[in-house]
Amino acid sequence: MAFTLEKVVPWGRSYDEYVSMFSLSENDLTKKIIGCSDGPASFNSELTHQGGSVVSIDPIYQFSAEELEARIEETYSTVLEQTKKNENEFVWKNIKSPDELGQVRMSAMREFLSDFPAGKEQGRYVEGELPALEFSNKEFDLALCSHFLFLYSEHYSLDFHVQSITEMCRVAGEARMFPLLELGAKKSRHLEGVVKELRSKGYECSIEKVGYEFQKGGNEMLRVKII
Ligand SMILES: C[S@@+](CC[C@H](N)C(=O)[O-])C[C@H]1O[C@@H](n2cnc3c(N)ncnc32)[C@H](O)[C@@H]1O
Repeated sequence: MAFTLEKVVPWGRSYDEYVSMFSLSENDLTKKIIGCSDGPASFNSELTHQGGSVVSIDPIYQFSAEELEARIEETYSTVLEQTKKNENEFVWKNIKSPDELGQVRMSAMREFLSDFPAGKEQGRYVEGELPALEFSNKEFDLALCSHFLFLYSEHYSLDFHVQSITEMCRVAGEARMFPLLELGAKKSRHLEGVVKELRSKGYECSIEKVGYEFQKGGNEMLRVKII
């Protein structure tokens, strides 16, 4: 089935959020990074401006900045209303209210939109989809996936998760996924099965606490490495 923009609700996180979701150290930030499902996050733009190396892949990069901007404007108030309705699923500590959340997300998405045309030309935003990445083995040092794997556990099978993480490890040697919750702030139904399957294939897996928690209980990432 073709990937259509009507199905997408663009919602992008900031560089600071990526750093704490994935416990990125100074050394990590000097690595060649691939961000899988980065969507309209500002991580790529901000890291690039600081001299880092990152390629983002997402199916939404087939659209133009104008199309993405229009879709962001179309869906923004609905997403914010939904967040207000489910306010008790979130920890309002670093971000203090749904309105502040709206400002933080909008500022990240504006940063993405202003960087997107040049970044696409430079090959930093590449249209692509898990579970198959069109890159060579070990072309990167670190693969990140924020708010796609595990979050949509109801929509994607255990097999899809295992294939995607294996593929991220093929191109980068190490993969980190955050959060490990699915929608509704419940632990992902696939987490245990995925870890068991990856360990049986010889991957090293660890579930690690991070300094970021916005969905209640969403303060862990999964790190997977080729041994
Ligand atoms: C909730 S957004 C997360 C955006 C960003 N990672 C962040 O945390 O701010 C989920 C993203 O997954 C992307 N996506 C959907 N299907 C995908 C696939 N098969 N492979 C990679 N990304 C996909 C969507 O286009 C969307 O941009």
